[in-house]
Amino acid sequence: MTLTEHSTDVAAEQTVEQALRPHAEDAFAHELAALAAADDRPRPARWRLSPWAVATYLLGGTLPDGTVITPKYVGPRRTVEVAVTTLATDRALLLLGVPGTAKTWVSEHLAAAVSGDSTLLVQGTAGTPEEAIRYGWNYAQLLAHGPSRDALVPSPVMRAMADGMTARVEELTRIPADVQDTLITILSEKTLPIPELGEEVQAVGGFNLIATANDRDRGVNELSSALRRRFNTVVLPLPATPEAEVDIVARRVDQIGRSLDLPAVPEGVEEIRRVVTVFRELRDGVTADGRTKLKSPSGTLSTAEAISVVTGGLALAAHFGDGVLRSGDIAAGLLGAVVRDPAVDRVIWQEYLETVVRERHDWKDFYRACREVSA
Ligand SMILES: Nc1ncnc2c1ncn2[C@@H]1O[C@H](COP(=O)(O)OP(=O)(O)OP(=O)(O)O)[C@@H](O)[C@H]1O
Ligand SMILES: [Mg+2]
Repeated sequence: MTLTEHSTDVAAEQTVEQALRPHAEDAFAHELAALAAADDRPRPARWRLSPWAVATYLLGGTLPDGTVITPKYVGPRRTVEVAVTTLATDRALLLLGVPGTAKTWVSEHLAAAVSGDSTLLVQGTAGTPEEAIRYGWNYAQLLAHGPSRDALVPSPVMRAMADGMTARVEELTRIPADVQDTLITILSEKTLPIPELGEEVQAVGGFNLIATANDRDRGVNELSSALRRRFNTVVLPLPATPEAEVDIVARRVDQIGRSLDLPAVPEGVEEIRRVVTVFRELRDGVTADGRTKLKSPSGTLSTAEAISVVTGGLALAAHFGDGVLRSGDIAAGLLGAVVRDPAVDRVIWQEYLETVVRERHDWKDFYRACREVSA
């Protein structure tokens, strides 16, 4: 390796390292490269990997050369397989689920594995304009030289069409209905007309779109049935068992913790189990043994929130404790996650604390810590 080669390598590594949250294709570049090398199955046009390798990237596995692919998504294999194969068809993929079920996460990793680029992203909001999905104009150029390709600012979707890549639309149902409908022509005709230029952009092979939507959001726009027909809907479920959820939380906290230089998780796994138990019991409205009915608080208490409660706890343990995650470190974060609406949730939490938590004799320190912050 020459000196210049070496220094560009270092520079590239530093850009990756310095990003607080690198894109999936950068963070897992070595896994993607190993998969591409080991992958001898047919790949759809412009796909970086075969559908099999994309599914392995998401679900994890060990390659013949010994490379370990870490699981990104923990959940039913079939769900992932259906999602991946949908992207190889002419239908777009809609990932649907309650908050915190990894819709955004799966969408990012799918785009990274299929196209090597997860950044062709439109964030859906109530204010998302049509231009964000079609194209806009560079007004200085437009005024100086009139409409031309140079003055046109392509949207991420238009770029994905032209280059045969995966586009992503986050929170599709937050986008006003008429703007959502812009996607109908794109998805059915695979064409984006530019009337101002008398031209069009035709999608090339490899183009597809992943949208995410939350089925719990109230007061948002429904998906029109015309648009829904262009999508294959894949519902991402909540983790089926407490063990699966503990596993997801521990894995993610470990990854996030490492990027923030926090202490390792293993010693805190007992606390993670408690957080997950509390979340699941309150979410399900019944204790794990099925004996006591509970009221559910207004918050969603998703896996994603369990991850942030535990990460917050680890940071407390690292900076103000002895580096080991203890009940005292998670109690405040837990209270914040459960009590969203002080008027109703506080009572529900107190009742849970006194009737359920208090009775568990191996939860004494946890009970005390929660009492302290709840007072
Ligand atoms: N089954 C799972 N497997 C792996 N990670 C998971 C799983 N469920 C949740 N997570 C983790 O939860 C975090 C949040 O997920 P994400 O933001 O993708 O949720 P979402 O479904 O998009 O939520 P929202 O509806 O609020 O946008 C991610 O860090 C992800 O790793
Ligand atoms: Mg999301």
